[in-house]
Amino acid sequence: MESIKSKKITAVWIITILTLFVVSIVLGILMRLNQGGVIEQTPVAFYVNMTTHGLTMIGIWFVAGMMAVNFLLQRYVKTSHTVNILALVFTVVGVLMLWTSTFIGKFHAGWTFLYPLPFKIMWAKWATPVFYLALVVLVVGWLIWCLSLIAQILKKYSISQTFAWQHFKKNPKVETPPFILISMITLVGITTCLIAAVVLVALTAAEYFSKGAFVNDALLMKNLTYFFGHTIANEMLYLGLAVIYELFSEISGRPKWKTTWYVAIAWNFTLVFILTAFFHHLYMDFVQPEGLQIVGQLASYFASLPAAGVTVFSIFIAVYRTKINWSLPNLLFFIGTAGWVIGGLGAVIDATISNNVVLHNTLWVPAHFHTYNAMGNVLFSLGFFYWFATLDTEKIYSGKGTKLILSLLLIGGIGFLLAFYIAGADSIPRRYSNYPPELAAGIPLATMGAAFATIYLIGILIFFFNISKGCLKILSSPSS
Ligand code: HEM
Repeated sequence: MESIKSKKITAVWIITILTLFVVSIVLGILMRLNQGGVIEQTPVAFYVNMTTHGLTMIGIWFVAGMMAVNFLLQRYVKTSHTVNILALVFTVVGVLMLWTSTFIGKFHAGWTFLYPLPFKIMWAKWATPVFYLALVVLVVGWLIWCLSLIAQILKKYSISQTFAWQHFKKNPKVETPPFILISMITLVGITTCLIAAVVLVALTAAEYFSKGAFVNDALLMKNLTYFFGHTIANEMLYLGLAVIYELFSEISGRPKWKTTWYVAIAWNFTLVFILTAFFHHLYMDFVQPEGLQIVGQLASYFASLPAAGVTVFSIFIAVYRTKINWSLPNLLFFIGTAGWVIGGLGAVIDATISNNVVLHNTLWVPAHFHTYNAMGNVLFSLGFFYWFATLDTEKIYSGKGTKLILSLLLIGGIGFLLAFYIAGADSIPRRYSNYPPELAAGIPLATMGAAFATIYLIGILIFFFNISKGCLKILSSPSS
């Protein structure tokens, strides 16, 4: 069972994540206002904001999924409180170092920090090593966390049970809870991509300290970067799905979901294909062997479709013609799943080679990944946050508050995303701080994006205000 100690650290995680989220959204709005010509920032300020925004967002929504999984895992196995605290400290220190390299050192190579850009110093000289040190701190902290959770699961379940292989046959003797299956599949994927990040940083350091004697292979570095970046950005969604499998039925007053043969097969498929889908980021790298480009397209389909298929099916069966106790958390899970599927479709369209020729590096890319993040994974985590903050209390606020928050998030989120989609379909490129006259169509859309993102931000602030009462109550409760 969850202890008061673990509730307290979870409350600290939530407050930290939402604070960083608010700051990062403001950076996003500033970028859209600049692209819309409403404010005037230097290109350096724009790219500093873009780099900080991208990395902070990926970092916080990754740890949001991890800490929720850590919390719920205690229903099945013991987890380490010390490692949880360590992960929090490493995350906060890592983010502070990252912000020092960007805000003070002006490092602005984008969240993908694609080799050899970090070596083309256009910022304070110290900012590049500080940026990489920040990555080391984050990656080491998260790797320890992942390995610790995997080790705890393996103390209770055998390897084949954690992957639910016994469910491939009828009537298995031991049942693997879906939460354990999805958590394990995801943690293994995350561990793999974090190891890729370690190799990437080690190779970068080797070049940095060799003073020109050793030069990396740019194609290998790009493969490693996307193996890390693409995979972690996708795996964090699956952490959110593990939470949904655990809580959706419980919150809705429905029987707990079970692992069936098709759920087991679909998630095992996901483990394999999620690790090779990143090749779709290299379609325009013509030196990449052609076979890998085809693997990239096929894996993009197979990584998303089975998991999406079984999750949507499970939710559909749970809600179809059934009386459900709808409340803010399960509504957020439900809408978040729709956002995940819609964003996923946008991603599959882009990952299809013939379409990618047109959509590559247009605003279609932020359109689809913001859909399954801002209107997918973020909502999964907000659902968990609300459920957690009201765990020991009466409902903090009434249905009216729920409607207001959902309306603001929906109206703001959809409008913000539409501005990206329309611009992307019109071939407006991504990552432009200002649009030249040839791309003038992007300007009003950027202003529209900023306006709707502000509505989304207001929804988040109201949500934050409301759940912080629950979190502060947990933090001020006696420890034993
Ligand atoms: C309402 C909230 C948000 C706003 C206003 C916002 C805004 C933006 C803008 C304007 C860009 C630059 C687009 C361009 O290429 O021109 C961007 C990029 C990005 N955003 Fe967001 N965003 C939001 C939420 C999120 C969330 C929830 C995530 C992730 C979980 C996220 C992750 C990223 C990433 C990874 C990039 C790419 C940065 C890069 O290209 O280096 N954003 N965002």
